[in-house]
Amino acid sequence: MSDQAEKLRALVQQQSEKLTPPVLASESLGPRFKTRTIVVTSGKGGVGKTNLTVNLALAFAKRGKKTLLFDADLGMANLDVLLGISPQHSLVDVIHERKRLDEVIFPISENLELIPGGSGISELANLASEKLESLLLRLSEIEGRSEILLIDTGAGISRQVLDFVLAAHEVIVVTTPEPTAITDAYGMIKALNTQNPGATVHLLVNQADTEQEARSVASKLTMIVERFLEIKLNFLGFVEKDVNVGRAVLQQRPFSSLYPYAVATRRVNILAGTLLVQNDEPSAPEGFFSRFFRRIAK
Ligand SMILES: Nc1ncnc2c1ncn2[C@@H]1O[C@H](COP(=O)(O)OP(=O)(O)OP(=O)(O)O)[C@@H](O)[C@H]1O
Ligand SMILES: [Mg+2]
Repeated sequence: MSDQAEKLRALVQQQSEKLTPPVLASESLGPRFKTRTIVVTSGKGGVGKTNLTVNLALAFAKRGKKTLLFDADLGMANLDVLLGISPQHSLVDVIHERKRLDEVIFPISENLELIPGGSGISELANLASEKLESLLLRLSEIEGRSEILLIDTGAGISRQVLDFVLAAHEVIVVTTPEPTAITDAYGMIKALNTQNPGATVHLLVNQADTEQEARSVASKLTMIVERFLEIKLNFLGFVEKDVNVGRAVLQQRPFSSLYPYAVATRRVNILAGTLLVQNDEPSAPEGFFSRFFRRIAK
């Protein structure tokens, strides 16, 4: 174990102790919530994570849930692109200490804000320890700012993606019916099984031709997971292939805003409703970012 890791672990511990609710409540950050953090991921890239994340966030916000979108695709962040906004600053400016975190939080609509990811940083784990320390302090400050923190990750089982996924209490694994996407989704679920066994893992089948196809993908994957892994997979639901998604991407607008009556919009609304009804309570009292930094510090 390196000195750096030791130092960082001590800092995480110190911060977790410091960040008790009374301390947070005294800061002028507005009302504090018990934040439900949901990380959206996949094995294979390009399955629709970012589109689903944006539109789920809008659906939560519409239902009156204060929602914060966090773009953890630090290599190629693009939540802002799909939202049709061009934030001047991003998490990268916070990491380099050019901006405070509250200065990069971008308001999208009532109840919805975005922390843009920026680009040019591949792995937080590789940051110098002082930079990580100050980022930890800042991110811990936003814990409790929203009712829901929805995190979009990049593609694949890279260290950068895993750091977020393995720290999560609740994960949505997105797959399409393509065999390669299903195999890669299984790989991600397997990683969760061994390294984050307490997590709630939802399966979301995107780009299905029919409901029947989506259900068949879900039951196959669930069967394999039940047979070989301990973790329980919750089939959250599905979204059909819908040309309106691609159309909306071209116009840099969320599909649910541009096409409120599209099939994909109806499905995302159902998914958001299902998630809110399930109302997962974090099993550990510790916040997401403390867990995240504890992982990085390993
Ligand atoms: N339900 C859908 N119906 C039709 N096309 C879709 C659907 N969902 C996503 N797509 C298409 O897939 C493309 C990729 O989507 P998106 O960028 O959301 O995937 P991603 O998983 O975030 O990709 P990456 O892994 O690169 O981050 C989109 O440009 C869109 O055209
Ligand atoms: Mg994406």
